[in-house]
Amino acid sequence: MAEYGSLEFFQEMVDYYHKFYQAKHGRNYTDQRPESAKGIYDLTVAADPDQVIEIGTCHGASTTVIAAALKKLGKDLRCMLSIDRSHASWEETKRDILPVFQSSNGIDLGLIRCMDADFMKVDPKTIIGSEKVMVFYDIHDLPNFRPSKKFVSDWIPLLGGGVVAVHDVVVVGVDFVPGTVAWEASTLYHFDSTRFSGYLELESFMDWMNQNNVPIGYWPDGIFFNVGKD
Ligand SMILES: C[S@@+](CC[C@H](N)C(=O)[O-])C[C@H]1O[C@@H](n2cnc3c(N)ncnc32)[C@H](O)[C@@H]1O
Repeated sequence: MAEYGSLEFFQEMVDYYHKFYQAKHGRNYTDQRPESAKGIYDLTVAADPDQVIEIGTCHGASTTVIAAALKKLGKDLRCMLSIDRSHASWEETKRDILPVFQSSNGIDLGLIRCMDADFMKVDPKTIIGSEKVMVFYDIHDLPNFRPSKKFVSDWIPLLGGGVVAVHDVVVVGVDFVPGTVAWEASTLYHFDSTRFSGYLELESFMDWMNQNNVPIGYWPDGIFFNVGKD
C-alpha cells in the first residue's frame, strides 16, 4: 500500500476517479493529476488551517485531497466547507468512486460540509469563521461571468490571515497561444517578473497581488498567496 500522502497515494486516488469516469463517461476525470493532488496536500499541511473553504467542488478530487491533508493534521473534517451550485457529482464520488480509498485510509468524506449555492450570491460574512483560513478557489471565469472579481473585492478583505490557492494555471513562463485551451486564458505578469498563462480568473488574482505587492507561490497546476496578517 502506498505511503499516506505520497505521490503513489494520489496516483491510487486518481486511478479510482479514472476507473469510474471511464466506465460512465468514456474518458478520464482530468481535474487533478497525482502531481497537483500532492501539491494541494503539501500546501494544506503547511498552511495548517483551522477552516477550509473550497469554491467549486464538482466530483471533488481537490476536496478529497484536502480532506486527506486535514486528517493528516488531526483536524475534524467538519472544519471544511465546499461550495458548488450542486453537489450531485460529489455525492456520486462518495457513493461510486472513493469508498475503497476512503475506508482504507480512514477518511470520512461524509463529514465535509457542503453548501449548494450560486457563489455570486454567497455572503462571505456568513461563511468565514476563523483567522486561519485556507481557501481553495476552482471556478472558471468567462468573459461575462467574473466570480473571481467578487472574490477579490468581497472575500479577501475578510480573510484575517490565510492562504488562497487558485487552481488551474496553464503554464509558467510561456505565452498563451489563442485557441489552445478550452476556456478563455490570458498571458499574465507578476511584479516579480514571472510570466505565465492561465484561465481568465487568474487575471483578478494577479491584479490584486500586483497592487498589494504580494509574493506568489506555485504548486503543479496552481498558484497560492497569503492574505491578511500571516
Ligand atoms: C473546475 S470544477 C471544480 C473541480 C474540483 N475542484 C476538483 O478538483 O475536482 C468547477 C466547479 O465550479 C462550479 N461552479 C461554476 N459556477 C458556479 C457558481 N456560480 N456557483 C457555484 N459553483 C459554481 C461548477 O458547478 C463546477 O462543479
